[in-house]
Amino acid sequence: MPTEVFILNGVNLGTLGQRRPEVYGSLTLSDIERMLEGKFPAVEFEFRQTDYEGEMVGFIREAAESGGLALNPGAWTHYSYALHDALEAVLVPKVEVHLSNVHARESWRRHSVVSPAVDAVVAGMGASGYVTAVQYILSRSEDRR
Ligand code: DQA
Repeated sequence: MPTEVFILNGVNLGTLGQRRPEVYGSLTLSDIERMLEGKFPAVEFEFRQTDYEGEMVGFIREAAESGGLALNPGAWTHYSYALHDALEAVLVPKVEVHLSNVHARESWRRHSVVSPAVDAVVAGMGASGYVTAVQYILSRSEDRR
């Protein structure tokens, strides 16, 4: 059976490509999704993006029976205890992804309230960060076999 992996993108990530390309790159979210499908043909991807926090909580719960999830929470990273609690309750491999190096930017971006509820964090690798996250999730699912 193919491994199912959720790729979750939060607030404002639907505008990738147009939004500050010098910081977030010139690829759109759908370019990134097609790139992941091309690199991991054996993975069954569930791609979701929303600007609504409660909807994202639902997506995180949906991933509870999957092989794992990669989440870029956007600005929710820095203040959403709701996403932290939703992640804490889902026991699959979980990776927090940031396109930019949040530690080299404004001080408020240096703190993530989500990180304590995930297994790994990737930041500053641009779109490749999603590839790294999927590789990690797949390595975890091999460990469990
Ligand atoms: C981001 C970093 C966040 O601080 C910001 O609010 C985003 C994108 C990133 O991918 O680098 O929307 O998560």
